[in-house]
Amino acid sequence: MMPTSEQIWSQGEAQEALHSRATKIAAEQFGNAVFLRGVVEVSNFCRENCAYCGMRRDNRNLARFRADHDKLAELIIHHRPASITDINIQSGEDPVVVREVVLPLINTLRRETPLGISVCLGTLDDSLYTELKNAGAGIYIIKYEIADPALYSKMTAPGTYKERIEHIRRLSASGWKVSSGFISGLPGQTKEELLSNFALARTLPLDGCSVSPFIPGDETPLSSSPLASIDLTLNCMAALRLMKPDWVIPAVSALNLAEPGSGYRRGLRTGANLVTINMTPSDVRGDYLLYKRDRFIMTEERILNAIAAEGLKPSRQGLAAFYKTRAGSNSCAAKTIATAA
Ligand code: 5AD
Repeated sequence: MMPTSEQIWSQGEAQEALHSRATKIAAEQFGNAVFLRGVVEVSNFCRENCAYCGMRRDNRNLARFRADHDKLAELIIHHRPASITDINIQSGEDPVVVREVVLPLINTLRRETPLGISVCLGTLDDSLYTELKNAGAGIYIIKYEIADPALYSKMTAPGTYKERIEHIRRLSASGWKVSSGFISGLPGQTKEELLSNFALARTLPLDGCSVSPFIPGDETPLSSSPLASIDLTLNCMAALRLMKPDWVIPAVSALNLAEPGSGYRRGLRTGANLVTINMTPSDVRGDYLLYKRDRFIMTEERILNAIAAEGLKPSRQGLAAFYKTRAGSNSCAAKTIATAA
């Protein structure tokens, strides 16, 4: 069911009712279990120039880095938080790091760990997608960012709108599980544009979708624009859960920038069923500039506390394993997925 504007802009009791419905649906679908994934950010080189992102190529103030395979492998194999079942390898749009670090790292991790592997690496050539999949990655995270083509190009979001959507479709058609997402509260976003994100998400072959609150990023042309409303963002997450009960919906770390201290917890109360623990080595973390230099780092302890406080539990089954057991693929998934617990 498509969300209504009454839902998206609800307040007070109507908003509470929306959020509890979303929480209940997620609990029924996933048996109170939340997926825990680690993320390593492997490069902040980026050939894109998104107006909202601090890693944009025009940001000359940023010290660019590429991670070292051996260091990361050691970290993930021997020092990862015990609760994670999956790892997401993320970077700016940097084909060099894909060849030099990501592909070897996936091979190593497949050999040495049982972790499911997601990647979030931008729009790449088909041949690289194939190599990544053959190496053992199964989930591709590629946000469509903005549903309105005019706003997409105004924000100089990655490549072109058309290309981005084509890549999402192609990835899914070639066997990837695809998770996408959009930004709420972006400067210039109209009510219609915000709603059209749901219409778009519904038509795409997705297995998951995120909502990120717009953060006026340091060192971007939008640094003095207003921060997204946390309530609007949470309402969007809840509406997404109502629209697609079986999708994997993350509580993104930016929720805590939109509402320090509690944003993340509230995400778990609006139907999110995936959380991410940041494992990027601390010496380069500050340069992975999606939002602010002063990053809010999600540690395992913070996350486990938040999950327990919401009456939820870490999923013992990994995300990659969960997708495998789910009947069929995206868009025609089984209704009840109690095995996630
Ligand atoms: N506010 C919100 N989301 C952002 N992203 C990048 N910069 C911002 C920002 N300032 C999101 C984009 C991108 C993902 C990695 O981070 O959706 O795809």
